[in-house]
Amino acid sequence: MTTQVKKICCLGAGYVGGPTCAVIAYKCPHIQVTIVDVNETRINAWNSDNLPIYEPGLDKVVFDRRGKNLFFTTEVEKAINEADLIFVSVNTPTKKAGMGAGYAADLAYIESATRQIAEVARSSKIVVEKSTVPCRTAESMRTILEANSHDDIRFDILSNPEFLAEGTAINDLLYPDRVLIGGLQTPEGYKAQQALAKIYEQWVPKDKIITTNLWSSELSKLAANALLAQRISSINALSAICEATGADIDEVAYACGRDSRIGPRFLKASVGFGGSCFQKDILNLVYLSEQLNLPEVAAYWKQVVDLNEYQKKRFVSRIIKTLFNTITNKRIAVLGFAFKKDTGDTRESAAITLCKDFIQENAHVNIYDPKVSEQQIFYDLSGPEVTYDIKDLKKRVTVVQSAYEASANADAIVVATEWDEFKELDFERIYKSMNKPAFIFDGRLILDAEKLKSIGFRVHTIGRANF
Ligand code: NAI
Repeated sequence: MTTQVKKICCLGAGYVGGPTCAVIAYKCPHIQVTIVDVNETRINAWNSDNLPIYEPGLDKVVFDRRGKNLFFTTEVEKAINEADLIFVSVNTPTKKAGMGAGYAADLAYIESATRQIAEVARSSKIVVEKSTVPCRTAESMRTILEANSHDDIRFDILSNPEFLAEGTAINDLLYPDRVLIGGLQTPEGYKAQQALAKIYEQWVPKDKIITTNLWSSELSKLAANALLAQRISSINALSAICEATGADIDEVAYACGRDSRIGPRFLKASVGFGGSCFQKDILNLVYLSEQLNLPEVAAYWKQVVDLNEYQKKRFVSRIIKTLFNTITNKRIAVLGFAFKKDTGDTRESAAITLCKDFIQENAHVNIYDPKVSEQQIFYDLSGPEVTYDIKDLKKRVTVVQSAYEASANADAIVVATEWDEFKELDFERIYKSMNKPAFIFDGRLILDAEKLKSIGFRVHTIGRANF
């Protein structure tokens, strides 16, 4: 008989834990879902009117279930103890120091969450690895858990990686392409898989729920992100050829994407991918390949990240070269700071690299993003390459409240994030307020270049030549 899950606990109230478990509560009113975090500020925000993350549709889901069968708390032990099933959705950032620094995932949060479950659990649990982890992490979790289980308590471990994309998280969760559940190939493993599958079956068609062994599930998540990022780096590599030859990257992407073997999605050239996952997960795969003594495989995937860095630097060089080889004391309006539209997340955002480079070249930078706070922007821009001193930074960087304010008296506009509102701007008004010649660098290929040229702008678009 399948275990009936009545209470769920989620460790980690971040971009994954929050939306994922809020949707489970929304779709399964008979299940009590408690999301816990060690970060009290974050939990307080989840319990307020101002949720800690921005995602279209998230408010509706949270406000509908909060206080009914959805709870946010810092009482980790109580929530663990009450739950039949525990999602581990803690962060797994790239290691900053020690063995594998710069590549390997830092599994300290996973391990401490696992140890906490082992220490405080007084009844059997299904423990679900939701965080993205290197292949065979579940083995370590199982060893820790089993060392602490006894006659009355058993732990079953599952891998259930999350495929949501920020900006469309709620839609992705409500209508997933697939749900992946990896488990041990034992009777108990199958039983645990079925218990989790039953939850998803409340709203996901059965044929979209895939069950595999644990290691396939773990590796599939890294592989999916590597393949997606690889498409972006591939199209970005081609964008460099376009700029040098007169081919147009949008036309090339369209022509290639019409081939049903290739498909049209994820072929948009840009200033480079960002976000907390792509780079981290590929570097993780690179490290794993090296550990497995597969240097050619490691080098292959590493190139996807290297190309992404190259794309950002190439864009900055083009901007400086176009602005007569110097941007010292010029004013640059950066439109967008989030790593993509419809999120306030700035982790690994291309805008950070661009802005840091502009500051180092002694330009003045005006930044506008509809969802990123001034505090976050200054936090992201402070560091060894620029300065840790916010006062110093404020001499070079101004965070403003609109694209119009950002563009006033600017020499150039740089579109760093593809927010829809940037397509609707009154560019006649913007042109009048800028220094002449007025330049626009479209790093997201969202603006109508011909229209802008007719207003008087000098327009530079990624993947298009200017000759
Ligand atoms: P996040 O940093 O937003 O959230 C993680 C949360 O876990 C933090 O609030 C942290 O305080 C909390 N935490 C750490 N240790 C804890 C513990 N022992 N007990 C309770 N809470 C604890 O990270 P995010 O973005 O939610 O990512 C989580 C995992 O999901 C990562 O492995 C990531 O790679 C993966 N992932 C992320 C996606 C995304 O779009 N952000 C998409 C798919 C997977």
